[in-house]
Formats: sequence, structure tokens, C-alpha cells
Amino acid sequence: MNTNNSNDLKNLVKDEYSKIALQSKEQNETSCCGSGSCGTYTIMSEDYSSLGGYLPDADLGLGCGLPTEFAKIRPGDTVVDLGSGAGNDCFVARAITGETGKVIGIDMTEAMIQRAKQNAEKLGYTNVEFRLGDIEDVPISSKRADVVVSNCVMNLVPDKTKAFAEVFRILKPQGHFSISDVVLKGALPEGLKQKAEMYAGCISGAIQKSEYLGILAEQGFVNITIQKEKPIVLPEEILKEYLSPEELALYASKGFGIFSITVYAERPEASCGCGPQATCC
Ligand SMILES: C[S@@+](CC[C@H](N)C(=O)[O-])C[C@H]1O[C@@H](n2cnc3c(N)ncnc32)[C@H](O)[C@@H]1O
Repeated sequence: MNTNNSNDLKNLVKDEYSKIALQSKEQNETSCCGSGSCGTYTIMSEDYSSLGGYLPDADLGLGCGLPTEFAKIRPGDTVVDLGSGAGNDCFVARAITGETGKVIGIDMTEAMIQRAKQNAEKLGYTNVEFRLGDIEDVPISSKRADVVVSNCVMNLVPDKTKAFAEVFRILKPQGHFSISDVVLKGALPEGLKQKAEMYAGCISGAIQKSEYLGILAEQGFVNITIQKEKPIVLPEEILKEYLSPEELALYASKGFGIFSITVYAERPEASCGCGPQATCC
């Protein structure tokens, strides 16, 4: 993707999230996570309400998993949340890191950062920080994070290779991430992708699951594991319009379609020549 297209896409995403940042979760139910016209978005979001640290004002219903549940965060850890929105996962992470840890949320939408900062102030946290910045060029020094989390954001980032190279760079050796995201399995007809985007959001920038996992391996991550996988269920009438009976059967067998996944991986202790960021050892 050339730089102009990539910047145009990011500007569309920023415009959309600037509006969403001013709304409540209920209002966002008729919104979406990407650009364009949208339908019921919260089809993918999980129930956070029983989690420690949950702050209703930070929950805009924009996630597609519970990455903090799987992220093996420990007291005292430094956790970075990429695409932190109003801070939903940051406050849940803070409940685990405690006062001795540090949580840093990164988002490129100014209005989201403002809302997240207001939420942190309400909670009186001094070790939860929100920084304006792009996931393709994260404003955090190298080898800073014990854990990286992200919830339904990477699909919106035009250059996913760059984004995961940044995850690798900011993680400490032996640090790890749990990232929830939307991926595709099988070639979905373009018409179905567009309908799905209107229905569920977060589809248009999603890539094939195999490609996604390939990017992680190329960057040098190890112990890559799918911690959770959930099909995004679209109504039968939409599916029938675009899929042949054979494709419909594959879709029903869950071998094909749109999925929310939570992926875990580790930055190895030393990267010896197995990824772009490897050093000689
Ligand atoms: C679907 S929302 C998810 C927000 C949050 N993770 C949650 O679950 O509530 C996507 C967020 O990612 C941010 N975002 C999208 N692309 C980004 C990028 N390239 N760099 C930084 N933030 C980005 C948007 O501004 C938005 O706040």
C-alpha cells in the first residue's frame, strides 16, 4: 500500500473514532470499528463487567476479545495497550499490575486519548499513561514492555508487518503479547465482505489468518499460540446471498469465514538470525 493510501485510510479511521469517542457504548451499537456505513457493531465485543478494574465509562463496546484474560500479566509488569481507545483494557491490566506496575495506552485518535485520560483521572491512577501515537511507529523506547495487549485494532492498521515489528521492538526479551483481532479464513466474496463490514465492522482491513500468523513468525516471535478463536456469526440471509451451497456448508462447518482470534507469542531471549530484528549471537 502506498503512503498516500495508507494516510487516507488512517484519516478515515481517526474521523470515525473521533466521533465514537464522544459516544456511549449504547450509542456505539449502531456504529462500527472501521470507516464507512455501519450496522450492529457490538456483535463481537465481550462482556467485561465482571473483570477487576472494569470501568463502564471506558467500555465503548469496541473490542473483539478479552486479551487481558490471556496475557499472563503479573504484578509489577509494564503493559502496553496498542489502540487503547477509552482505556478499557488498560484499567483491567492495571488491576493486575497494581501500583508497582505501569500501563501505557497508545492511540492515534486525539479524542480517544482525551477520554482515556479523563477516565484515568477519575480513578486517580498515576501509573496509567496515555500517549498519542501510531502503532506503525510506537512512541515507546525499545525493550520497555513485559506485556503487549491490543483489542480489535491491528485489522485497522494498513501495514501489519510494520505494526508487529514495533510490537517486537518494544517488548523485552522473553516478553510476550496477547492480541485479539479479526481474521478471515478462505476467500470471501467482495460483496459478502462489504455486507459483513456494515453488519459487524472491523472486517475490511482483516487479512487471512495464515497470513497473520506468517507475519508473526517472520518477525521472529516464538511460541505463537491461538488462545481463543470464535466465529463471527452473520445472518443466514446475508450468507445465502453471496455463497454457493458448497461454500455455505464450509462456512457452517466453521472452516471458512470471519473469526475473532486471540493470539499469544513471545519475543525470544536473544534473536539469533531468525527475524528482521535479529542480532548476531
Ligand atoms: C476498535 S477500536 C478498539 C479500542 C479499544 N482497544 C477497545 O477495545 O475498546 C480501535 C482503536 O484503535 C485506534 N487505532 C486504529 N488504528 C491505529 C493506529 N494505526 N495507531 C494507533 N491507534 C490506532 C483507533 O483510534 C481506536 O481507538
